[in-house]
Amino acid sequence: MNTNNHPALMGSLRPSSPSVKLINFSPGPTSLPKAVEEEIAQSFKKPGLTSLALSHRSPEFIDILRRTKASVRRIMNIPDDYELLFTHGGGHGQFAAVPLNLCHNKSDVATYIVNGTWTERARDEATRYCTVQSIDGRDPMGGYTTFPELIEEEIDPESKYLFLCSNETVNGIENHRLPRLPDSRRHIPLVIDASSDFTTKPIDWRDDGVGVLFACASKNIGHPGVTLTVVRKDLLGENCASPLCPGVFNYTTNAEAENLWNTPATFNIEVIGFLMDWLEHQGGVAENERRSIAKSSILYEVIDNSGGFYVTPVQNTSLRSRMNVPFNIKEGDETMTDDFLIQSWNEGMVGLRTLTPFGVGDYLRASLYNCITEEDAVRLADFMKRFARKN
Ligand SMILES: Cc1ncc(COP(=O)(O)O)c(C=O)c1O
Repeated sequence: MNTNNHPALMGSLRPSSPSVKLINFSPGPTSLPKAVEEEIAQSFKKPGLTSLALSHRSPEFIDILRRTKASVRRIMNIPDDYELLFTHGGGHGQFAAVPLNLCHNKSDVATYIVNGTWTERARDEATRYCTVQSIDGRDPMGGYTTFPELIEEEIDPESKYLFLCSNETVNGIENHRLPRLPDSRRHIPLVIDASSDFTTKPIDWRDDGVGVLFACASKNIGHPGVTLTVVRKDLLGENCASPLCPGVFNYTTNAEAENLWNTPATFNIEVIGFLMDWLEHQGGVAENERRSIAKSSILYEVIDNSGGFYVTPVQNTSLRSRMNVPFNIKEGDETMTDDFLIQSWNEGMVGLRTLTPFGVGDYLRASLYNCITEEDAVRLADFMKRFARKN
């Protein structure tokens, strides 16, 4: 076979042979935990209609919606003064919905911390709807490997919100706890893109100053097609949003209609409920955080002990992502990287190099969402050690 056409190099996610155990390290969409995938399969075997066929206004679906919301609220400890919505349009939808809901006029100011590819996208989208001030989070070499210090003078006190991404999925930079604004700026609500780390650590909603938090489902909590959006209730109301905000994006419209203003993603909402039940049985968020630390440490340890064979870009260990571990091989040597991808694919490890809207990037990436177990991380770590020894 011409290796350029090798499935592993084309980003194939299929197993190399029917007998190989597949481990999906994709950055999303990705797998759900085995038990959740089995529960979805079981739901198709029960008598009656599944949520794929239920009217969103039927008592059966309304019960699913109510139970799912209650589970998310309980497990993520979301206080009553926050509204919980299942929104359309993915993470990108929220990049537009946030300024459209929180800025009434184009002249309203919003501050964006830009420290990776997704905050760049969010900032660029917001400039269409409000006046954006950026805090540049690039390191002295011009790359994204860090999170900037929050300096009072750099944050406009009139900002309607301060936007940040708690886990920059592509760059592998994570705030393990939300940053604290300087005291004189604590009145500004934080808007958090938690698309790739939701459920993997606790959030202290009120004390952290969260105004809005959203997470597209397709990484840690479900399938593409639904986004979980949590909004502090004092940010709702007739006069908050831009008059141009489409109804389908309008937080107030959807909160007042109890998430049934238009047809929500019924099946995907039920899946989030399954995932939340699984999470609760697994010990909740605290235990999930322990698992995330364990899984990522297994890989960072191999990288840091490889004598430079593997390199990860984020040097500040307190900012290293527990969700997405980027690494290169022998300074990005192309032949060696291709060999690594083919050999790991042969052993069932897929999704280590995927195409993103920002290209394939300089680094491979192991994503360690809820579907990945500690044993899976050990499998990859063992492979990495063997590969480094041979080369
Ligand atoms: C942090 C983050 N924000 C936003 C997005 C975009 O989400 P979507 O593709 O659902 O619009 C992604 C997708 O990978 C992401 O990782």
